[in-house]
Amino acid sequence: MASYQPLRSALYMPGTNARALEKAAGLEVDCVIMDLEDGVAPDVKADARSQIQTALKTHDYGRRTRIVRLNEIGSAWFEDDARMAVAAASDGILVPKINGPDDLHDISNRLSAIGASKSFQVWLMMETAMAMLNIADIARTAASQDYGFNCFVMGTNDLAKETGAAQTPDRLPMLFWLSSSVTAARAYGLSVLDGVSNNFSDLDRFRAECVHGKELGMDGKTLIHPKQVAVCNETFSPSDEEITWSRKIITAFEEPQNKGQGVISVEGKMVEILHLEIARKTVAIADAIADAT
Ligand code: COA
Ligand code: MG
Repeated sequence: MASYQPLRSALYMPGTNARALEKAAGLEVDCVIMDLEDGVAPDVKADARSQIQTALKTHDYGRRTRIVRLNEIGSAWFEDDARMAVAAASDGILVPKINGPDDLHDISNRLSAIGASKSFQVWLMMETAMAMLNIADIARTAASQDYGFNCFVMGTNDLAKETGAAQTPDRLPMLFWLSSSVTAARAYGLSVLDGVSNNFSDLDRFRAECVHGKELGMDGKTLIHPKQVAVCNETFSPSDEEITWSRKIITAFEEPQNKGQGVISVEGKMVEILHLEIARKTVAIADAIADAT
């Protein structure tokens, strides 16, 4: 688990916003998503592309994963967007409007044609009704590609727009899509990030959404404003109680009388090997976060 990459918080910013691109380098986010798609109007796409290129060369984003969100495959901008993201040495791309496995083969072919390294990350927006129908095939195809197709990002605004589903505080209309995306991602070893909360002034609602995403099994959440960062990091970090309990489980399984046991008792609770595995993961995540911050 040493290679665990913290993905608690991923902040979007429009490629046209030079101040935001600069400010992000000093915020406690795990990932920076520099946007060329919906956050940028059609007539300023080229300007946004060059501002992102400059930001990637100029600012030191340190430990933060630097992802460029491209315009969709088949758009007039996709090819130039991808070339810039590779040439400017970003850590990867986020590709919107994925519909099915063919899109992933298409991306791989295009990355190969422009000479991207095999470690280049490809994150996928899960935001169309068709993607929700094809979610298992998309996850399986992602896991079999040469490039780092390793993360789903939920696009809840687009899902609401296309389907007519409402964005209610309890998120019941979205539950099937959120949950099936987590399931598909886990089945094939991918990460998954929750959609954005549009109302960045209502931090109580935002906190409830973070907790909901964490309970569903998300690794983290996508954000739109610096105000959202602290609550998000807090929610998606293992709590002190979880870390303490995990360390107790690991220590207990190492005691001589428990060596080779499949099930033991810790403080009056049944603990099995599967709990040991969860405990090891929790400690690995906590260590990675501690190293990163
Ligand atoms: N990333 C980095 N910094 C950001 C930011 C972001 N997404 N949003 C705001 N900031 C910065 C501002 O530059 C400002 O910095 P400063 O005061 O230190 O100079 C500070 O945070 C306060 O910003 P504020 O005035 O409250 O926000 P705003 O009214 O200028 O902008 C939004 C509000 C929603 C337009 C803006 O937050 C935004 O563009 N968010 C991202 C939208 C996006 O990318 N959408 C596409 C994906 S869903
Ligand atoms: Mg979208």
